Amino acid sequence: MKISVLGLGYVGLPLAAAITKLTNHNVLGYDIDSSKVESIKQGVSPIDDEQCGKDLKEITLNVSNESSSLSETDIFIVCVPTPVLDDYMPDLTPVIGAVTEVCNHLQKGNVIIVESTINPGVCDEVLIPLVEEKTGMKAGVDFDLAHCPERINPGDTKWNVYNIPRNIGSTSDEATTRTANLYREFIDAEINEMPSLKTAEATKIIENTFRDINIAFVNELAKSFDVLDIDLKTVIDAAANKPFAFMPHYPSCGVGGHCIPVDPYYLIERAKQSGFDHKFLKLAREINNSMPAYTVGLLADGLNEFSKSIKGTKIALLGLSYKANVGDLRQSPSLVIQKELEEKGADLIIYDPHFLGRSNVNSLDDALEGATAIVIATDHNEFKAITPEMLQAKGVKVVIDGKNCLDKASFDDSDIAYKGIGR
Ligand SMILES: NC(=O)c1ccc[n+]([C@@H]2O[C@H](COP(=O)([O-])OP(=O)(O)OC[C@H]3O[C@@H](n4cnc5c(N)ncnc54)[C@H](O)[C@@H]3O)[C@@H](O)[C@H]2O)c1
Repeated sequence: MKISVLGLGYVGLPLAAAITKLTNHNVLGYDIDSSKVESIKQGVSPIDDEQCGKDLKEITLNVSNESSSLSETDIFIVCVPTPVLDDYMPDLTPVIGAVTEVCNHLQKGNVIIVESTINPGVCDEVLIPLVEEKTGMKAGVDFDLAHCPERINPGDTKWNVYNIPRNIGSTSDEATTRTANLYREFIDAEINEMPSLKTAEATKIIENTFRDINIAFVNELAKSFDVLDIDLKTVIDAAANKPFAFMPHYPSCGVGGHCIPVDPYYLIERAKQSGFDHKFLKLAREINNSMPAYTVGLLADGLNEFSKSIKGTKIALLGLSYKANVGDLRQSPSLVIQKELEEKGADLIIYDPHFLGRSNVNSLDDALEGATAIVIATDHNEFKAITPEMLQAKGVKVVIDGKNCLDKASFDDSDIAYKGIGR
């Protein structure tokens, strides 16, 4: 079969590589971004994913940015972004664009699989009507549409495209089984056949909303425990030794990435259209969105202790990426912190080893030089190794540990004001 994967980002590229590596199907990777396509042709992964980087060295992935390359496809797999607009409204433009492109090549008997994260109803209410209108074909009769939401966690060395279980829903039970069997060819994990498209869509959304709500809970606790003078990290670690019914989540300077701070809005908005107001989910989003400003507030408090203001003070912002040891800026709270500090007139030094082009120094040593305060916004390994001695030697007075990644007790005997999030 010819399998075309549309969108070669964090989701589509590892998937296209995995199908190429472990099956005999004829795989095409298609992306509208010609620079990504060129990079993959050179065998260089444009995304930060160890497993995918290895796979691309072992295989030759057929890629193109020419839409004509999609012709004669049997199975289309859509892995394009599902962002929100500035007002947090879901933006289905990329998915609609990709599925419209599929329509230009769709033949009877083809299957369209959507891996992008979408709210319940998008397949039945938006995509199937779109395809039926553009092609004159009937879903479940002339073509099938399946949803197999991706769960990949970029940078995770244990869980990857080959071993994460999947849930699949489709236009018919028979098409669900056929789609599931394709995934069973290259995934060594459960492939669960679901009763409908809607349930498959909803499964992915609740996974990420579950994370968002739990993180909001601990972020709220962080603010409470800061005024109560209780170290929340110590409390969560202790609560986590309960062998059942507690799952630790940790507070931080904010929630980033393409999924957790985005996907809840898809459910919030769709439920609203049907008359239900998701108060709890909206509050979780509000709390998590407030954390960058809260972190800047902690910095202002720390500087106050030394009779200094943010304005005019040399502050090193360590980390731009939303998560440790990868270079990914999407929805990164660090960028919000950067903007706030710039607006408040800080003399800002920025350093992220994954984004030297956006840093204004080339090393941690240079970032610390002459800084009065540091704000750790990403727990890259390089920053986790920071010690009070290193900071004292540079004259740093205030440490804001936005990821609680340093040893708080090690600052007890220093003259440095250490502030974590909820500790
Ligand atoms: N990043 C993650 O960790 C993750 C995990 C699970 C699910 N998801 C979901 O998977 C989807 C894709 O996310 P991602 O992280 O891979 O995004 P990404 O931005 O890394 O990659 C998407 C790619 O799609 C391409 N694209 C956009 N429109 C296109 C079109 N019409 N035709 C072909 N290519 C097109 C873009 O150029 C880009 O290369 C999203 O819905 C996301 O929510 C992401």
